[in-house]
Amino acid sequence: MAEIGKNIDFAADLLLKGKLVAIPTETVYGLAANALNEKAVLSIFEAKQRPFFDPLIIHLADIDSVCEYAELKDERLKKLAKTFWPGPLTLLLPKKDIIPNIVTSGLERVAVRIPNHPLTLELLKKINIPLAAPSANPFGYVSPTKPAHVEDQLGNKIDYIIDGGSCNIGLESTIIGIEGDAVCVYRLGGLAIEDIESIIGKVELRINSSSDPKAPGQLKSHYAPSKPLFIGDINDLILRHSTKKIAVICFGEENFSNEGLIVFNLSRKKNLAEAAINLFKFLREADECLAEVVLCHQLPDIGLGRAINDRLKRAAAR
Ligand code: TXA
Ligand code: MG
Repeated sequence: MAEIGKNIDFAADLLLKGKLVAIPTETVYGLAANALNEKAVLSIFEAKQRPFFDPLIIHLADIDSVCEYAELKDERLKKLAKTFWPGPLTLLLPKKDIIPNIVTSGLERVAVRIPNHPLTLELLKKINIPLAAPSANPFGYVSPTKPAHVEDQLGNKIDYIIDGGSCNIGLESTIIGIEGDAVCVYRLGGLAIEDIESIIGKVELRINSSSDPKAPGQLKSHYAPSKPLFIGDINDLILRHSTKKIAVICFGEENFSNEGLIVFNLSRKKNLAEAAINLFKFLREADECLAEVVLCHQLPDIGLGRAINDRLKRAAAR
């Protein structure tokens, strides 16, 4: 199994040798390799069993480094970068030739982000190369938010896991880019649309829900536990599935009278940030418990609630 620790020099050395290292970020854990080394990048796809049409995000330590690998010219994107980096924002920027095509699946733009985690920032400063890193889970499964999640699923395929504790946002980054003259959001995530619009005004949602493998990005079914999962009004769902052993993922003060329910409460206080932190952990635990089905409350469609609902819908899609 992979070693877990906080040795940044050791991690840097492995990455420079073309090996895979799991890195903590504020959103979810990433499975990192040297983005400039095609063979190393290839091994990310192999370890995750990820199709090559699904491009990777590169991670860098500061805006000057971003400009070495991509064109950050649009004033609105620059403003977002200055306001929200390091943080849960990924920008799609025209790529420079130095980024191998395997990273972008042959697309003209590269996805870039400066993550907000002290250990990973230290690592990025030390190695001074971009790290390509998708979430550190097998393709299509729930993203990891603590080292044990990575160890459980990919421990035998990677060399080292940096222990950065539990992720303090718990949802992947929000992905933004320019199309024509519009600023578009391609993935809802840990940075709320309201926060983005408070800086640059209205943005367009281009949230893909495709099962077409030619379309990169957002597959219809993703973040999915292996058990059947349904979302909606929780009490209706419980009635409908009353003959089965049920796990419930709920939100707010809920007191169920049904016997034998396995209950995971995202946030009793109805705090969306707390719900985001708990979401992927509970999806995993619900998948591992004795229940046959997982029933989930739909959250309010505001702030981080939108991204949480997006993840739940994809987890429910078959
Ligand atoms: O928070 C995050 O973004 C985490 C941490 C590790 O940084 N990373 C992450 O990576 O969620 P991943 O690979 O699981 O999701 C990246 C998404 C994919 O849906 C991918 O298709 C899309 O970003 N993407 C990456 N590069 C792209 C590009 N050049 N054009 C369009 N979509 C792109
Ligand atoms: Mg992912």
